[in-house]
Amino acid sequence: MNKITAAITSIGGYVPDYILTNDELATMVDTNDEWITSRTGIKERRILKGEGMGVSYMGIKAANEALQKANVDPKDIDLVIFTTCTGDMPVASSATYLATEIGATNAYGFDIMAACSGFLYGLSTAAKFIEAGAHKKVLLVGGDKMSSIIDYTDRKTCVIFGDGAGAVLLEANEEGYGVQDAILKSDGSGRDLLKIDAGGSMMPPSQKTIDERLHYVYQDGPHVFKFAVTNMADVSAEIMKKNNLTSEDVNWLVPHQANKRIIDATANRMGLDENKVMLNIQRYGNTTSGTIPLCLWDYEKQLKKGDNLVLAAFGGGFTWGAIYVKWAYDGNK
Ligand code: UT7
Repeated sequence: MNKITAAITSIGGYVPDYILTNDELATMVDTNDEWITSRTGIKERRILKGEGMGVSYMGIKAANEALQKANVDPKDIDLVIFTTCTGDMPVASSATYLATEIGATNAYGFDIMAACSGFLYGLSTAAKFIEAGAHKKVLLVGGDKMSSIIDYTDRKTCVIFGDGAGAVLLEANEEGYGVQDAILKSDGSGRDLLKIDAGGSMMPPSQKTIDERLHYVYQDGPHVFKFAVTNMADVSAEIMKKNNLTSEDVNWLVPHQANKRIIDATANRMGLDENKVMLNIQRYGNTTSGTIPLCLWDYEKQLKKGDNLVLAAFGGGFTWGAIYVKWAYDGNK
């Protein structure tokens, strides 16, 4: 029997309609389009507006699109994994709710939290269930409603993040397509550089935590930048070396969209021209777990069966990693 691999066989995506431009942000905090564009590459980001709208709203839309495109009955899904750091609620996973809402009544679900590397951690986990023969169809959703945890009086963070979600269907494959290799890493000593202080078991919510704005994301940008730029480039080079991939062999870099300067440094280290780098940071900003699936969603038509993709990310925790994927279908069909 051939080895079983986990192939991505369909993609869906969703970004909210509301566009928050750099110019609008400049009316909210002391910033300007020139600073944001030159330091990050971001021009605009999407914001999910409306009472009671959680990240699952976006995940459900993305998941339904992925299943419809693949013509797969939701009842045939074995497992739903939702990677997010902005789940609908602290308790009750978003994956279980999403599974029920899309009609995946034979699946079980759980969430994974690995901040901006969430999609990579989810992809690696999903692939293991398929490779082990435990499941045939896994739905992986990555998304975040970052606007729910961003302080729109803090110019250091509010210009960076946005809302969005993507979903991929993973199916067992016996022709060698799909996830080939994954290198995942973490370093807990970095948690104080990118975090939300309050709302967890260490510092439960109180009037004081609200007054001190401790439920919002804090980021020491320049320090995180140094770790991100080195580690994302290193791990991308490492996965190429481990799999004997030259820059000619790699068709696409699919990078986490945190900062265009980090993406450029990673591509440079891999020896890739910019036309092999997926980029949509200018339109969506940093959607955390949503960036990588939203890139695949945007570039799907350009992907060809057999293309070699390197997915790479760095995020809070710290967490980082790279995954080598052999693409399983022609995206323009
Ligand atoms: O996705 C998860 C992982 N996260 C990342 O990978 C993010 C990594 N970090 C970054 O991308 C960058 O550090 C930022 C985009 C967050 C910031 O860019 P930077 O080039 O590191 O700027 P900085 O924080 O060193 O700030 C430079 C200056 C400061 O002013 P002074 O002290 O030089 O007078 C800031 O106060 O820019 C100022 N500044 C701003 N000015 C206008 C900071 N934010 C803004 C702003 N508009 N929004």
